[in-house]
Amino acid sequence: MNVAAKGRARLVVLISGRGRNLAALIAAVNDGRIAADLVAVISNRADAAGLALAREAGVPVQVLPHVDYPDRAAFDAALAAALRALEPDIVALAGFMRILTENFVREFEGRMLNIHPSLLPRHKGLNTHAAVLRDGDAEHGATVHFVTPQLDGGPLIIQGRFTVSAQDGAQQLAERVLEQIECRIYPQAVAWMARGELRCEQGVPRFRDRPLSAVLSLDDLEPGFR
Ligand code: GRF
Repeated sequence: MNVAAKGRARLVVLISGRGRNLAALIAAVNDGRIAADLVAVISNRADAAGLALAREAGVPVQVLPHVDYPDRAAFDAALAAALRALEPDIVALAGFMRILTENFVREFEGRMLNIHPSLLPRHKGLNTHAAVLRDGDAEHGATVHFVTPQLDGGPLIIQGRFTVSAQDGAQQLAERVLEQIECRIYPQAVAWMARGELRCEQGVPRFRDRPLSAVLSLDDLEPGFR
């Protein structure tokens, strides 16, 4: 996306649940840390609590209940049509609990980000916090990555991590990951995308005009995101 030629980036956020990542993104758009217009929030569930957050923030919402579609391809085709109409520069999956078909991903590849509550490539898929405890991992955290057809397999952008304490249970880990890590690294990654500092070209993340040689970390957060 050529930000200069286009003006402000157009951001769409996809949710399925509580929307705590959405809340962090809305805050960063509203305080100017993310130089983008949040043009819509789309959910595959009408009961997603995050929809109320979007409405309270005055953000247009769309609900495409996946249960209304005969199969995954039909749902993805409807979602792609809704997204296409919004002409997004950035699509942020934020607790969006759908596995997306390759056709859908290919259309938005390079513009689509996801946040995953683990230090990828460890613990792809669900129940990451329990897996960290089961495996006795010393560290845990979250990852923002570009979305590719491989589930939780796209190029990594930024990770935040902390040391797992013996007292942590899965619920405590989930809260720490969300509050201490996700709500910082996701707004930062989207802010870099909106400024054109972060892109993905032919599957290679580029940061400030150079291939991203190492995954970014909490040390790379700009002051407003720490
Ligand atoms: C978060 O842990 C996020 O990493 C995962 O879904 C969880 C819930 O997110 N993708 P939210 O509260 O719906 O933003």
